Amino acid sequence: MEHPKNISAVLGLSWGDEGKGKIVDALASQFDFVMRFNGGGNAGHTIVLGEKTFKLHHIPAGIFSPDVTNIIGRKCVVDFFDVAEEIQQLQQTGVEISPKNLSIAFDAQVVLPFHKRMDILREKIRGAGKVGTTGRGIGPAYADLISRVGITLGDIVKNSFQEKLQTEVRMHNAIAREFSNEEILLNELEEKIFSLQNFLTPFVQDAYSLLWKRLHEGKKLLMEGAQGALLDAYFGTRPFVSSSLACLHGALLDLGLSFSDFEEIIGVTKLYNTRVGSGAFPTEFSDEHLRDVIQKRGKEFGATTGRARRCGWLDIPTLKLVSNVNKVSSLAITKVDVLDTLDEIKICDAFISEKTNTEIPFLPGSDEYLRGVTPHYKSFVGWKRSTAGIIAREFLPQNLQTMLRCISEETGVPIQFVSTGAKREEFVKMY
Ligand code: GDP
Ligand code: IMO
Ligand code: MG
Repeated sequence: MEHPKNISAVLGLSWGDEGKGKIVDALASQFDFVMRFNGGGNAGHTIVLGEKTFKLHHIPAGIFSPDVTNIIGRKCVVDFFDVAEEIQQLQQTGVEISPKNLSIAFDAQVVLPFHKRMDILREKIRGAGKVGTTGRGIGPAYADLISRVGITLGDIVKNSFQEKLQTEVRMHNAIAREFSNEEILLNELEEKIFSLQNFLTPFVQDAYSLLWKRLHEGKKLLMEGAQGALLDAYFGTRPFVSSSLACLHGALLDLGLSFSDFEEIIGVTKLYNTRVGSGAFPTEFSDEHLRDVIQKRGKEFGATTGRARRCGWLDIPTLKLVSNVNKVSSLAITKVDVLDTLDEIKICDAFISEKTNTEIPFLPGSDEYLRGVTPHYKSFVGWKRSTAGIIAREFLPQNLQTMLRCISEETGVPIQFVSTGAKREEFVKMY
């Protein structure tokens, strides 16, 4: 059966927190389905609607658009307790959520407290070499997925999880004892799962059959990425990555698609760069004052863990390769307003090898590579006026437009959206 061409994707092109949630929310009403295809409670997508701010971890950012059906996909890892809390908290603030507009894939892997404990224990054991994970149990849950063990949501819904749970808890407790960690009490955990079973069961559906049917009837799907390409388990800056497929291949595998099945692939990046957790960051600001200004203006504190995000200049070598690999058809450049007060803004246009002193391309798959490069910069004069909330192209300062042109020329990708604020409507559609 031929695939319909009514599928689009929004992907992060960096180390996460590019503003994917804002872009997905802004576009969602043009789609019938929004589906998260990777990650779990490690994601933090902030959506600002008027005076209200929402933080999403598992739930797709189409949830605020009344006619959209949202799906948490089968290759996400879903924290059984946290997702219930997330739904309930949103419902309490007046957001309409029911099994009519939110489905969680039947075969998604479940994250339970022992995954989180194992995540934290591993980090402790690694010491200085730690990844700096969010502690949400993501690595251990994806390890289960690949090892074909653990529990799926379907197991819980069908009430066939107890035996598997028993085995997993036994294994966990053996390791916990070895490292003097607290053990999991099986009965207590079982009880907790049972107490939420009725609430979550209606959300756990075979979303895929319905989705395929509707896609062939011409309905439109937006696939929402979590994290970013440089945190992809295979492609990213290993080992300082997450454990899911954050690149387009995550979306392709989920639905059995190929690149050419997509109508649009929108890559999101800030006009600068951030990174949370460990790992090389060649363009990271060495100037503490500059770092403080950007952290403060950009509110660069993690939506999931509250950790301060490391900040630096945008770099073309990674952006170009990542856009190419993901067949990005247009860019959404976010947070341009954060740079409004700067006299000078830089973009790294080349990586210079510290060994050979010559320019080298960005190579994916290892953090090691980025540790051996020195960034070469192109300098731009700041526009020094407010761009906050601008929605028309002609009002964007010339100096900013010059920078945007440079990014587009260097990456070979057109810029479709320029985001000028956290609120849904605060962006410029460039064409
Ligand atoms: P995500 O994980 O990619 O969805 O991004 P996060 O939500 O973690 O981080 C992006 C942060 O920037 C959030 O606090 C957003 O509300 C905010 N944001 C998004 N776009 C803009 C923008 O254009 N300007 C400003 N000032 N903030 C933005
Ligand atoms: P969104 O979707 C930023 C980072 C963590 C850590 C590494 C591994 O909001 O962009 P994990 O808990 O996934 O095992 O941590 O990945 N990380 C993120 N950084 N934004 C995210 O999600 C992230 N999800 C994971 O900080 O370095
Ligand atoms: Mg985030």
